[in-house]
Amino acid sequence: MVSVNRRQFLAAASAAAVTSMTSNARSAEANDELRVVVIGVNSIGNTHLNGFPKIPGVKVVGACDVDSAVLGKRTEEFDKKFGYGLKKYDDLRRVYDDPDVDAVVLGVPNHWHGLGTVWGCQAGKDVYTEKPCSHNIWEAGQMEKAAAKYDRIVQIGIQRRSFKHLQDFFQEVHQGALGKLKSVKGIYLTRRESIGRPTTAPQPPSTVNHDLWCGPGSTKLQRAKYHYDWHWFWDYGNAELGNNGPHILDLCRWAVGAEEFPTSVSSVGGRYAWDDNGQTPNTHLLRYEYAKAPITFEIRDLPTATGKRDTCKYKGLSYGIVIEGEEATYLGFDTGKVVDPDGKTIREIKGDTGSDGGRQLHRENFVKAVRSRKTSDLNCPVRAGHLSTALCHLGNISHLTGESLPLASLEERVQDQPLMTDAATRMTEHLAANGVDLDSAAVQMGRTLAIDPKTEKFPNDEAANRLLRREYRAPYVVPEQV
Ligand SMILES: NC(=O)c1ccc[n+]([C@@H]2O[C@H](COP(=O)([O-])OP(=O)(O)OC[C@H]3O[C@@H](n4cnc5c(N)ncnc54)[C@H](O)[C@@H]3O)[C@@H](O)[C@H]2O)c1
Repeated sequence: MVSVNRRQFLAAASAAAVTSMTSNARSAEANDELRVVVIGVNSIGNTHLNGFPKIPGVKVVGACDVDSAVLGKRTEEFDKKFGYGLKKYDDLRRVYDDPDVDAVVLGVPNHWHGLGTVWGCQAGKDVYTEKPCSHNIWEAGQMEKAAAKYDRIVQIGIQRRSFKHLQDFFQEVHQGALGKLKSVKGIYLTRRESIGRPTTAPQPPSTVNHDLWCGPGSTKLQRAKYHYDWHWFWDYGNAELGNNGPHILDLCRWAVGAEEFPTSVSSVGGRYAWDDNGQTPNTHLLRYEYAKAPITFEIRDLPTATGKRDTCKYKGLSYGIVIEGEEATYLGFDTGKVVDPDGKTIREIKGDTGSDGGRQLHRENFVKAVRSRKTSDLNCPVRAGHLSTALCHLGNISHLTGESLPLASLEERVQDQPLMTDAATRMTEHLAANGVDLDSAAVQMGRTLAIDPKTEKFPNDEAANRLLRREYRAPYVVPEQV
């Protein structure tokens, strides 16, 4: 998978001495047109296809997808809108082989983020990888090593990091603007539907290269809707916690100012009210211990009550964070407000969120770093994306190593965990409103796992440590030596 890109190729042909092909060749031609290919163009990848051409000096030259129907549709739309045709790739390895490509954008599912990034770095491409940073904790470390070894610019798509007003505000929070921090709470309260339980084995669409789609994961198909619903299977997705969690938990971690793993994690949750093949929880409470302040996270994918279409709210928010300080509290997401202890708004926190939910500012930041060749110019390099995404993986590991217990025992079991008792009460009331029988239902009581932030492992806990990485299905294996 190691190849040279167009600029390196040109530079190598003309330069007498090129000591570091990847970095030197590119910085010497920093004002060149940047040639980008988007890999995975169904949904978020399509926003990248439309966003990158708006950045001066950037040319989107190709699109890649393993679903020929998606690829055909997106390239046709692109041609109509931008007036030129894109090169079509049906295998991402051919993108990496192409010396005419400088940078790739990975809009592929989570299980491809690690390998796609490592291969990209090995091939001399800069990489914009969507969130979550990785599918598991170990491979994020491999991504970090690959970016460093091949001197590549790798941005993780956690775009709020590019909001100037949040950069400024969190700095103030670290300097005590809210007083000493008491806790930070993340909230993601949405409404989703059951994915069903097909009675006959689902078949991949005839337009899809299913083996390549599955990559490192199993080829067994258990979902009727091929795209997107992979989020709810551990082989490819990371639950709601690893889906929208990276955005929320990144803000929580930013607020706490933690540049390392927490010292412990615990979780409770389950998949309720739906009779379907999905494996991941649709109701999840998490708690992370940091020296400065604990983080809790409440996730619900069910509506306020059976048959309703509205979503729950906590302090007026369906999603976002609440930073509780001794002197004031912040509530918000893209923008927010600071309230005094009486709940009176004393300050609005707002600013430019750009277009496309903040993604355009984040793309511009990526391009700036590609031009400067400085990872320090990135707002969300692999390390930052890894630390925030790790919170999702740690919560899922707590969940997966836990045990199924009667839901009726929940409140008693969390009573020694401050902040979890309230949340557990809200959770059980919400489940009852969604028709869950509190007397007979079970809850997955995740284990409270101690973490060593230095090693980023669970001391003396082999069962939990095993889940730090996955089994890779050959040949789609993230290498030990990048
Ligand atoms: N930053 C954000 O705000 C944001 C928002 C939505 C999604 N995302 C992330 O973007 C990623 C994609 O999400 P989505 O909703 O677009 O998913 P999707 O399932 O709708 O689309 C994924 C596309 O990738 C293609 N694909 C799969 N494996 C491939 C491979 N090996 N090579 C080329 N193409 C491949 C699929 O065929 C599909 O067209 C996810 O990881 C998701 O978490 C980020």
